[in-house]
Amino acid sequence: MRRMRYVVERMTLADIPRVVEIERLAYTTPWPPSAYRKELQDNPLAHYIVLRDSTIQVPAPEASAGSMPRRSFPLSLLPARSAPGSSGPLASTIGFAGLWLMVDEAHITTIALHPRYRGRGLGELMLSSLIQIAYNISARSVTLEVRVTNHVAQNLYRKYGFQEAGVRRRYYSDNNEDALIMWTEPIHSAPFIERYEGLRAALADRLAAQEAQPDSAAHG
Ligand SMILES: CC(C)(COP(=O)(O)OP(=O)(O)OC[C@H]1O[C@@H](n2cnc3c(N)ncnc32)[C@H](O)[C@@H]1OP(=O)(O)O)[C@@H](O)C(=O)NCCC(=O)NCCS
Repeated sequence: MRRMRYVVERMTLADIPRVVEIERLAYTTPWPPSAYRKELQDNPLAHYIVLRDSTIQVPAPEASAGSMPRRSFPLSLLPARSAPGSSGPLASTIGFAGLWLMVDEAHITTIALHPRYRGRGLGELMLSSLIQIAYNISARSVTLEVRVTNHVAQNLYRKYGFQEAGVRRRYYSDNNEDALIMWTEPIHSAPFIERYEGLRAALADRLAAQEAQPDSAAHG
């Protein structure tokens, strides 16, 4: 069977240098690397994923699994001229996302994709994966905060059934911007499941079609 180009996996400590690079490109107030280490090592309620592009060849981390690599990953995200599926588990990280389980609510804490890869369904793939995690950990609903001006992210969330449930005034300290609070309906409700399954199937078709035309999908 043909291997998929984009792979979602659990974030490990070895991913943190790339995650921090991508975060700096995506957010004005990124977390320090120590915050991610703490999340992965000390927070049992946290669930973080990374998205990898399996066409990107990266050097093997010199440290053993579970510890920080001595070299950081290469800065360039241009896909290597290699056959898809050839780089295995060392393929490069191009996005990441996470959530916390708070009682029975899944709170999405972050979701970010390298700018070069946006607009082709990969942010959606990460959101869909977070919702799958929410099912796996028996959450009843999913919530998040998003900047009032972040219409791209809001569109993505609305597509998956998130609705506005209020505003946190001056929530973001860098520019005092308000946050929209968004919630799903119960994720085990029939309408939510039906929407989610439909969107997953459509996304799988979209990504498969892109993979059938690798040149148009390789550079954005
Ligand atoms: C938000 C983010 C993860 C979306 O990822 P993406 O891969 O670009 O988005 P996708 O291609 O998966 O698009 C999914 C949906 O998002 C919305 N969307 C994506 N790009 C959009 C654009 N340029 N304009 C309006 N809506 C857009 C659409 O609803 C789209 O669905 P569609 O393809 O059916 O139209 C990405 O833009 C990102 O990393 N942004 C910076 C970090 C950030 O703002 N994170 C959210 C914090 S709350």
